[in-house]
Amino acid sequence: MNKLVINGGTKLKGNVFISGAKNAAVAILPATLLIKGVCTINNLPNISDVKIICNILKELGAKITWNNEHEITIDTSSISCTTAPLDMTSKFRASYYLIGSMLGRCGEIEVGLPGGCNLGARPIDQHIKGFEALGAKVELNQGKILAKAKKLIGTSIYMDVVSVGATINIMLASVFAEGTTTIDNAAKEPHIVDVANFLNTMGADIRGAGTDVIKINGVKSLKSSGSYTVVPDQIEAGTFMLAAVATKGDIIIHNCIPEHLDCITAKIIEIGGNVEDLGDSIRVWCNKRPNKATVKTLPYPGFPTDMQPQMGVVLSIADGTSIINESIWESRFQYTEELNKMGACITAQGKTAIFEGVKELFGAPVYASDLRAGAALIIAGLVANGQTELYNIEHIDRGYENIEEKFKALGANIQRIS
Ligand code: EPZ
Repeated sequence: MNKLVINGGTKLKGNVFISGAKNAAVAILPATLLIKGVCTINNLPNISDVKIICNILKELGAKITWNNEHEITIDTSSISCTTAPLDMTSKFRASYYLIGSMLGRCGEIEVGLPGGCNLGARPIDQHIKGFEALGAKVELNQGKILAKAKKLIGTSIYMDVVSVGATINIMLASVFAEGTTTIDNAAKEPHIVDVANFLNTMGADIRGAGTDVIKINGVKSLKSSGSYTVVPDQIEAGTFMLAAVATKGDIIIHNCIPEHLDCITAKIIEIGGNVEDLGDSIRVWCNKRPNKATVKTLPYPGFPTDMQPQMGVVLSIADGTSIINESIWESRFQYTEELNKMGACITAQGKTAIFEGVKELFGAPVYASDLRAGAALIIAGLVANGQTELYNIEHIDRGYENIEEKFKALGANIQRIS
C-alpha cells in the first residue's frame, strides 16, 4: 500500500508549476470522439484519470501516441465500437462524457454508470434530461446506460441544477444537432469554457460558455485536424495557495490564471493572508495565524467545493470559530474525522461543519477518502508537529501530478513510501 510520510513544521518557500486542469482534460479527451481525424492535445496533467480515459478511448478504436508525458496525438478517424468497457468506466466520474460525445458522433453508446469520489449521491438526471430533450432515448439497467439517437434536434434546456458535467455533456451532444441548442442556468467553471474553446478550435459554433446561457449552433462536421492546449488547473493552484497560508510560507504559483482564483484570493485576504497577481502566476504569503471565517461552497465564481477540504485545514488552526457550509455535495466532510485525529476540533453535521480553531495539529496516521480530502491532509501534515502517515494516496494520484515532488521543491519534508 502506498503512503506519504510527512514531517511537519516547514514554511513553504519558492516556486511551484501548475499542471493542466484535470476537469478540463477528462472532458476534452472524450470530446475528441466528435472529430473524424487527428488532433494533438497539449498540457495534459500526468494523472491516472487521464490514463484511464485514454485507455477507454483506445478500447473504442482511437489510436493514441504519447509525444511526451503531457501531450498526445489522438486519431479518432475510425471508432469501431459503441460499448465502453464497464470495468474501466465505473472507475471514475467523467466516463459520462462518453455519452454526449458518442451520441454526437454515431448516435449510440453503452457505458457503465460513472464512479468517482465518494461525495454522497451523484445523480445524472440533468444529463439524461438534456439528452432526451435533444431527441435521444436513454435507458438505465444493471448499472449501465444505453443511449441512442437517430437524429439530434437542437432545443432549449433549462437546467434544474447548476451542473458542470451536465452542462458539458449537453454541449457535446449538441455540436452536430440540427439547429440551435440553448442551455439556460448553465455552469460557468473555467473547465467548461476550455471544452467550448477546444470544440470551437475544431470548428464547432458554441457561444456564451462561462455565462449562464450557452448557445450551440449545430454544424455538419468538425475539422479533421487541429491542436489544443489545456487550461491550467484552478483547483491545483488553489490547493498550493492554501498550503502557503497554512504553513505561513511565501510561494509563487506559476502557469496559472489568477482571475480563475479570485474567490480563493478574496478568502485568503479575508483571513489575513497576502496575494499578489503576477499575470500568469500568483504570489501567496502569510506570516500570521489565519483569522476565522465563514465559507459557503457554490458553483463558479463562488468558492469551489473542490477547495473545501483544503480550506477546512486552514480554518482548523485559525484564531476563533469558523463555519463551512458545503452546498454542492451531501457528504464531503469525511476528512474532518481525520483532522480530529490530528488534534483539530471540528463538528460536522450534514452539510455544515463547525471548526473550533486550535493552536496546533499533531502528526498521526490518516486516510484519504477522496482526491481533495487527500490533498487537504497533506497540508495538515505539513502544518502538524511530528510525523503524519497518509494512506489511500491513489485518490490523490487521480488528480494531482507528482504532488510530493511539487511540495518537496517548496521545502516540504515529504516522502512517498511504496
Ligand atoms: C464536477 O463534478 C467535478 N468533476 C467535481 O470535481 C466538482 O466537485 C463538481 O463538478 C462541482 O464543481 C469533474 O469535473 C470530473 P456537478 P460533476 O454535476 O460534474 C447535482 C474533483 O475533486 N447534480 O456540477 O459530477 C450534484 O448532485 C471532483 O475534481 C444533479 O442533481 O458535478 C451536485 O449536488 C469532485 N443532477 C451538483 O449538482 C445531475 O444530473 C453539482 O454537480 C448532475 C448533478
